[in-house]
Amino acid sequence: MSSNNQCNELIFYVNGTRIIEKNADPEEMLLSYLRKKVHLTGTKYGCGGGGCGACTVMVSTYNPFQDRVHHFSANACLFPICSLYGAAVTTVEGIGSTKTRLHPVQERIAKAHGSQCGFCTPGMVMSMYTLLRNNPEPTMEDIREGLTAHPRCLCLLAFHSDSLPVNRTGTVFTTSPRMLIEDTTELSLDSALSWVWVVSAVVMLLAQKQGAQQLCFQSDRIRWISPVDLSDLLELRSTYPEAPLLVGNTNVGPNMKLKGAIYPMIIAPGRIAELSTVKEGEDGITFGAACSLTAVKDELKRAVSELAAEKTKIFQALLQTLSCLAAKQIRNVATLGGNILSANPKYDLNSIMAAAGCTLTLVSKGGSREIQLNEEFFTGFGKTVLRPDEILLSVHIFYSRQWEFVSAFRQAQRREFAFSIVNAGMKVVFKEETNIVDSLSIFYGGVGPTLVRARRTCQELVGRPWEEALLWEACRLAGDDVCLSPSAPGGRTEFKKTLTLSFLFKFYMQVLLKLKEMDVCVTDLPPEYLSALKAFENEMPQGYHSYQAVSSAQSLEDPIGRPTVHQSAFKQATGEAVYYDDIPSIDGELFLFLVTSTRPHAKIMSIDASEAVSMPGVVTFLSTKDVPGNNRRQWLTEVEELFAEEKVTCVGQIIGGFVANTREEAKRAAERVKIKYEDLSPVFFTIEEAIQHQSFFKPERKLERGNVEEAFEKVDCILEGEIYMGGQEHFYMETQGVIAVPKGEDGEMHLFVGTQHAAYTQEVVAATLGVDANKVTCHVKRLGGGFGGKVMKIAVIASAAATAAHKTGRSVRCVLDRGDDMLITGGRHPFLGKYKVGFSKDGTILAADITYYSNGGSTLDESSFIMEKALLHMDNCYKIPNLRGRGLVCKTYLPSNTAFRGFGGPQGMMVIESVLHEVAAKCSLPAEKVRDINMYKEEAYTHHRQLFEPRDMVRCWEECLKKSAYHNRRLGIEEFNAHNRWKKRGISAVPLKFGIGFSKGFFNQGAALVHIYKDGSVLVIHGGTEMGQGINTKMIQVASRVLQIPMSSIHISESCTGSVPNAAPSAASFGTDAVGMAVKDACEKLMKRLEPIMRENPKYSWAEWIKKAYCEKISLSATGFFMGPHTSVDWEKGEGQAYFYFTCGACCSEVEIDCLTGDHKNIRTDIVMDVGHSINPALDVGQIEGGFVQGLGLFTLEELKFSPEGVLLTRGPSQYKIPALCDIPPQLNTHLLADTSNPHAIYCSKGIGEPTVFFGCTIFYAIKEAIAAARKDSGLSGNFPLNSPATPEKIRLACVDRFTQMVPAAEPGTFTPWAVDV
Ligand SMILES: Cc1cc2nc3c(=O)[nH]c(=O)nc-3n(C[C@H](O)[C@H](O)[C@H](O)COP(=O)(O)OP(=O)(O)OC[C@H]3O[C@@H](n4cnc5c(N)ncnc54)[C@H](O)[C@@H]3O)c2cc1C
Ligand code: FES
Repeated sequence: MSSNNQCNELIFYVNGTRIIEKNADPEEMLLSYLRKKVHLTGTKYGCGGGGCGACTVMVSTYNPFQDRVHHFSANACLFPICSLYGAAVTTVEGIGSTKTRLHPVQERIAKAHGSQCGFCTPGMVMSMYTLLRNNPEPTMEDIREGLTAHPRCLCLLAFHSDSLPVNRTGTVFTTSPRMLIEDTTELSLDSALSWVWVVSAVVMLLAQKQGAQQLCFQSDRIRWISPVDLSDLLELRSTYPEAPLLVGNTNVGPNMKLKGAIYPMIIAPGRIAELSTVKEGEDGITFGAACSLTAVKDELKRAVSELAAEKTKIFQALLQTLSCLAAKQIRNVATLGGNILSANPKYDLNSIMAAAGCTLTLVSKGGSREIQLNEEFFTGFGKTVLRPDEILLSVHIFYSRQWEFVSAFRQAQRREFAFSIVNAGMKVVFKEETNIVDSLSIFYGGVGPTLVRARRTCQELVGRPWEEALLWEACRLAGDDVCLSPSAPGGRTEFKKTLTLSFLFKFYMQVLLKLKEMDVCVTDLPPEYLSALKAFENEMPQGYHSYQAVSSAQSLEDPIGRPTVHQSAFKQATGEAVYYDDIPSIDGELFLFLVTSTRPHAKIMSIDASEAVSMPGVVTFLSTKDVPGNNRRQWLTEVEELFAEEKVTCVGQIIGGFVANTREEAKRAAERVKIKYEDLSPVFFTIEEAIQHQSFFKPERKLERGNVEEAFEKVDCILEGEIYMGGQEHFYMETQGVIAVPKGEDGEMHLFVGTQHAAYTQEVVAATLGVDANKVTCHVKRLGGGFGGKVMKIAVIASAAATAAHKTGRSVRCVLDRGDDMLITGGRHPFLGKYKVGFSKDGTILAADITYYSNGGSTLDESSFIMEKALLHMDNCYKIPNLRGRGLVCKTYLPSNTAFRGFGGPQGMMVIESVLHEVAAKCSLPAEKVRDINMYKEEAYTHHRQLFEPRDMVRCWEECLKKSAYHNRRLGIEEFNAHNRWKKRGISAVPLKFGIGFSKGFFNQGAALVHIYKDGSVLVIHGGTEMGQGINTKMIQVASRVLQIPMSSIHISESCTGSVPNAAPSAASFGTDAVGMAVKDACEKLMKRLEPIMRENPKYSWAEWIKKAYCEKISLSATGFFMGPHTSVDWEKGEGQAYFYFTCGACCSEVEIDCLTGDHKNIRTDIVMDVGHSINPALDVGQIEGGFVQGLGLFTLEELKFSPEGVLLTRGPSQYKIPALCDIPPQLNTHLLADTSNPHAIYCSKGIGEPTVFFGCTIFYAIKEAIAAARKDSGLSGNFPLNSPATPEKIRLACVDRFTQMVPAAEPGTFTPWAVDV
């Protein structure tokens, strides 16, 4: 193609503005382009791999075949800008703004309390906006589908609300599906979209113009060509056979960004008509290879609705899988051809299409050929039989026939938006009107490097009748057909093999039922076996809340106790809320990319950065030598290094960093540095290994009450056991990072940083720079989630960035990639609890002796405090007269673990709940009965000798059982279980007592600074940090009450060490308690000063009083301070007032499990929580729900996998699953206990940030009950071990049956596992 026919200018639109990019970089994704070049920062980076939805935008393109503009949601992080020629992009800023008018979707999510930290709110807004743009009257299922991409956030609940306005005045209780949805604008799309119509026309024109031209973009590393037509494409393909054909970029993109693959040439065939056409023929439908999965889904749906059911069995099987394959954003761009040719056995479609006998048309310059999609098509992972000059033109999917049956199966870690662990496609054809197998086709994905055909199974069963004998023979043969080494990548081999048999059984049952419906004589199906067939339906969760309305005597102007909207909600919904990485770059700003260890325990022999520093854009390499102050820091009993000096003690330890003009340049340099290591021993990672090596951090902790030994002598029964609880990744949506700005004078450094503990960051940075703390100022506007992960580790990252800024004299930004964040910053500690418990036959526990081991990793961090909290919570709500707990923190060669919401409390309580569960099973009593028997019922001393009044805890427990109709539902569940063999239900209720405040008393302090300006406006600065919990909103409510002015006159700009020094971390659920009192104190001081003026001038307005006060030289600025309780524990004596008070509650959850696949569905959860007099019920409910959902992830879903070499394998949302919409119970009811109070905290409220994480264990125990029911059907009774999290793998393997028995577990020690439980 001559250069005349080439276009090198990229033209597209962003929010109606035409962009002409003359130097389009093929490696540049829309996300970074929007954020850095267009300066639209509402679109966020959360993972960079299409897994979190934070970067969702709407893309509008012209579809020449339909002659219309097509609007779809897409992940900007995977969308190459070069693909945007002629397209229009709409971002969250383009649809509404607080400065003009909010789009109704933005308004709705804000007003319905749908935004907490707000980091992924713009992404959700754009998902919903695009949905409404295409379909103004969506169904609940459309909405649910649109939100699948957005994991964890309870913010999701906001969208489904019935938007019932509620009248909160005058009533004692307010109940609503979602609080405070009032005054929302009617959904009207037109005004906000007017420009879209204009752009649509322009997009069409542009697209028509580009038709004749090859588009070609070039960077220093990559050339991108978009061919004009098919012959142009085939010519390019034969010239550049190595070049990937890039359409959706959902496979190539992650390979380039996350795995470092480089392709010097990329061919983008998105415009080729033949690749995008859909043709319906006589025997089926032919899809062009570049059809998006959404287009395929839509077309199959149409065909299913229009054609006879008999013809569409293959389509239906595909649709079933397509409905849970990835998220809409991915399906909108990912192509059918890309899915096949990525040749990844985890991808779902190949097994179905192979079983269904689909054919592929391949073309090259030399001609075309048609081949069968089967196991022979795939020659290895990522490899196919395609010749280098060939491309896939189309895929033909046949209609099904009368005696043919097709099914698809998949099981993943999470039911939706997760790669399958095993997928399968199965087809059987019968001799007409018989149950005799004419042909059988079974394919599995995920059980080897390529697609696996159960060859012998398929061959040997031909001619056999479809009856039970065939099933067992099939299982025996399939067991041989699927050879999976216990060391195979991905691990879980026993589970995978069991799944292959479970799927076979499900297929057998499905077909049997169909044959029966077709009047073919087959074996009768026991009715309880039908439960094998019913798939779990995903439902839209409904939240129901109740809380106590404020007294009618309270002034309407007083906002305390009212569900006021989060102060930043509107800015969060419009993308205007500024997070640290949204701050525009300062002139000359550089980027720091950290270099980390690849060895778990090794001596650093040499670091050669010479080649890397000479790369373009690289400014310098940073290491321990560049630290102007102290590289080493004393932390309790341990010394911690900023940059590793002589040796490394974990994979992921920071060794140095590259500073470059851009992030990409710094990253590329980091990939080139040469570090030589000499491996050291020992090396171990697990708690068990640490116990063998007696490798523990000091100090060991112990708490004891009563005489445990003596009690063991007297009890009826003794049980011994253990429970392991895996760790958890924080997965805050905003990754850790900082901007360090050297001020150029006196060593001053300003840091714009996402930290929960600004004073600690300041202290560590000052020590690193060798300056006094008064030279370092930390500014914290807000955090995109913290969960405890941004207390300690961020100080290290900030110190590295400050060192770089000091060395270069320029501002330095450091923003961790999601993968690096997960690798470097640690998470929740895995715990192992070993216990011995003595009890009487009625279930009363008289003695328990528990030893806790946690995996601290390679440095101490807060591990010993976390262990202390576990011990202090080991009694949960139970009065066990003789109780002993010992806590040991294991020192291993893993990245150091750190604080995480709950801070050891959930682990401590989990063990005692496990003990109770086991005692109940042993005594053949319902677990709630044993809980009830052992509960604190009247005022008593806890095991650490703190007085505890359990009245409200018991009320929560009783109300929870009542509100959840626990006893009736339990009976219903027994009934259900008796009639269903392969689905079982379980229910569990658990009480909670959670200590609030720091047990290190000195942290229990809060400070604030309040300024009143001459115009009467008020600025509040406090020592807490806003991370979504709504502390700023609550502080404004407090100031508003004391100053008696509207909330709108009060502003909080940021938290800053220069304004409020030495603040305690926003942690321990104590933020509001501490700074609330301080804000109150400051405001009261001001009011006292103003009082004489107010008294003398009662008719004045607030502004007039202030003016007068100013003229009278009265100071309008005051500090406030709160000296909190002097908590402390004497660990020698094992006693002390550890907490200020306790927040209590109870939770009940019901689940259903699929015994054959290990899948589970959360059915309903009821929470009753005592939060005292809630300052803001909407925020508190958000914290309760959010904590519960995070706990649900902890106890059932989230699994960190480490290789036997200590390398974290789960480094992004594709491998590590946090809860998504499908995990939230369809009924999630939250009730705030009425008529309670708390004399200890601000306005009688209670801290609520952390406690409810523990409630996730109700799902775990409900699952355990359901498994027990399944085991009973297999003739197994009594307790059985179940470690947390209760993943599909654990559930399936615990539901012992004939299938699991056909899969013998590999002998431990005879193979190297893919991953180890640490
Ligand atoms: C977050 C996420 C979740 C996902 N979840 C799932 C899931 O649950 N199940 C599942 O099955 N998949 C899943 N996927 C994978 C996704 O379906 C595939 O990545 C997608 O279908 C590939 O299509 P693409 O157009 O994006 O391919 P690209 O990345 O553009 O290309 C992929 C490969 O296919 C080749 N190729 C593409 N078209 C042709 C052609 N016509 N001729 C020759 N070669 C061609 C390219 O050369 C390249 O090597 C997920 C992906 C992501 C990012
Ligand atoms: S940042 Fe794009 S999906 Fe996570």
